[in-house]
Amino acid sequence: MATVAILLCQPPRLWRSRRRQPGPASAWDASGLSSVRPIPPAEPPASPAVALPATTSPAIASPAVAPPAGHEADAAEAWAETQAETWAEIQAESRGCPRWLAERLQAASGRVPFRIYMDWVLHDPQHGAYGSGRLRIGRAGDFSTAPSLSDDFAGLLAPQLAAWLLELGPGPLALIEAGPGEGDLAADLARELVRGWPQLAARCQLVLVDPSAGLVERQRQRLAACPLPLRWATFAQLAAAPLRGVVLAHEVLDALPVERIVWDGSRWRQQLVQLRPDGGLALVAGEPLAAAQLAQLAALGLSDPGPQRPAGWCSELHPGLEPWLADCAAAVQQGTLLVIDYAHEAARYYAPQRAQGTLMAYRQQQASSDPLQQPGCWDLTAHLCLESVEAAALASGWRALGSRRQGEALLALGLAQRLHGLQQQAGIPLQQLLQQREALLRLVDPAALGDFRWLAFQRQPPRGAAGRDAAGSVTAAAAASGDPAALNEQAALGKRVAAGVELTAAAPTAPLFLRDPPLA
Ligand SMILES: C[S@@+](CC[C@H](N)C(=O)[O-])C[C@H]1O[C@@H](n2cnc3c(N)ncnc32)[C@H](O)[C@@H]1O
Repeated sequence: MATVAILLCQPPRLWRSRRRQPGPASAWDASGLSSVRPIPPAEPPASPAVALPATTSPAIASPAVAPPAGHEADAAEAWAETQAETWAEIQAESRGCPRWLAERLQAASGRVPFRIYMDWVLHDPQHGAYGSGRLRIGRAGDFSTAPSLSDDFAGLLAPQLAAWLLELGPGPLALIEAGPGEGDLAADLARELVRGWPQLAARCQLVLVDPSAGLVERQRQRLAACPLPLRWATFAQLAAAPLRGVVLAHEVLDALPVERIVWDGSRWRQQLVQLRPDGGLALVAGEPLAAAQLAQLAALGLSDPGPQRPAGWCSELHPGLEPWLADCAAAVQQGTLLVIDYAHEAARYYAPQRAQGTLMAYRQQQASSDPLQQPGCWDLTAHLCLESVEAAALASGWRALGSRRQGEALLALGLAQRLHGLQQQAGIPLQQLLQQREALLRLVDPAALGDFRWLAFQRQPPRGAAGRDAAGSVTAAAAASGDPAALNEQAALGKRVAAGVELTAAAPTAPLFLRDPPLA
C-alpha cells in the first residue's frame, strides 16, 4: 500500500486529449485556452467558387493504419479490419474524394456549403463517420471522451442528475441521453441510479436518442443488461407524448454541422466544398452570406470584422443548434437539459488570432485541421459558442439555469474525495488504480477535459397554465383551492424532502454544481 500511495502522488503522464491535441497544422498556447494556428493565405475576393490552393485536399497519401493499443483485443482487431476495408475502398475509387461523394457533389453542380458536406461525411447513414458507425469512441478507438475514460464520470454526475429528477416530484420520469455514442455513460448512469437512488430509479426509464444506426446497434449490445427500462426514440417520436425528466447531451452538439464563413476583405461569404477537375476536393469562397446569417454576425459584433481580421479570416456559425434544441424541447414536458461540451465565449471564439475557427478532425487518436481528408473516415467537430447556445436555447423554450467549467463542477460533486479514496482501496491492481487516477485528473485538468462547459437549461409547463405562476410552480392559491393536481404536487413537496434524505445519503457533502444565477 505504501508503494501505491507514493505512486498516486506522482504527477500524471500527459494523455492525448481529444480536444486539446494539437494537430500537425495547429498548436495551442501555453494556457491551452486559444488556438494559435497560423493564418492561412488570404482567400481571393472571390467571384463565387474560386479554388483556394492552400486549403485543398491533395491526393491522399497512404495513412498509417496502426491497430489501436489497449486491452480490447477483439474490438481492436475488428476495428482494424473495418479501417483497412474503408481505406482500400477509397483508394480504389478516387484521389481524395470517394465515389459516393463525387456523385453527390456533381448532382449539386459540383459544390455545396461546408455545412452540407459536414452533414454528409458525418451523418450519412451509409457513408458518414457517425452514421455508418465507423467511428469508435474510447481508448482503443478514434478518440476518447470523458465517459469512455472511466465510470467515475458517471459516478460524479449521477447525484446532480438525481437531484434534478427528484425536483420533478412523484410520477414516471425519464433520463434521456442524446448521442450516447458507445453507450458507456448511459450504462454507467443506469447502474449508479439503481445503486444510489433505488426508489427514484424504480420510476425512471432510460431513453436514448441517436440517429446513427451503427452506433445504436453497439449501444444495444453495451446496454443488454441495463437495469432500467430502456428504449430508443427520436425527439419527434417523444414529442407525441413529451416526458418529464432530464436530458443529457454529452459531446453531441459539437457534432452538428457548422456553416463556415469567410471574410474576403470586403464581404462575408459562405465557404463551399468543391469537387476539383482532378477528382480532389477544395474549400472555396461562395456566395455572400444571407441576411439571417449577417444578422447573427451583427449580434456577435462582427458586422465589420476590423483590421485585425484580414481577407481569408474564417470561422463558424452554428445553424443546427436552434432546430436541435427546439426538437429537444418539444420532447420534454418538464425538466432539465444538461449540455456538456467544449465551448468558448464569443469574444474568445471569434478572436482575431483564431483565424481558421475551431474546426478539427479526429481519427485513430490523431488530430488534424484538414476537414477534407478521407471524407467519412474522420470525426469533424467544432467548438460551441456559449452565447449562441444560450440564445438558441432561449429561443427554443428553454430557461438558462447556470453554467460551470467541468473541472469546477466535478470538484463540487466530489472528485477530490474520490481521488483521495483511491488510496484507501485495497485489493485493486496497481495498474487499474493508476489508470483510474489518471482518468480522474484528466477530467479536471484545465488543459484537457476540465475546460469543458456544463450548461444547464430548464423547461417548465406552459406559463399561465391553471394554478401555476410564471415559473411554472404551483401557486399558493391553487393549492388552497383544493384542486387535486395542486394538492398532489403539495404532497410531492413533502415526499421531495424525504427523497432529499436519500440524496444526501448518497451524494457527496460538497454542494451540487449549480449555484450561480441564471445566465440571462
Ligand atoms: C462525439 S460522439 C459522443 C458520444 C458520447 N456522448 C460520448 O461522449 O462518448 C457524438 C454522438 O452524437 C450522435 N449524434 C450526432 N448527431 C446527433 C443528433 N442530431 N441528435 C442526437 N445525437 C446525435 C452521434 O451519433 C454520436 O453518438
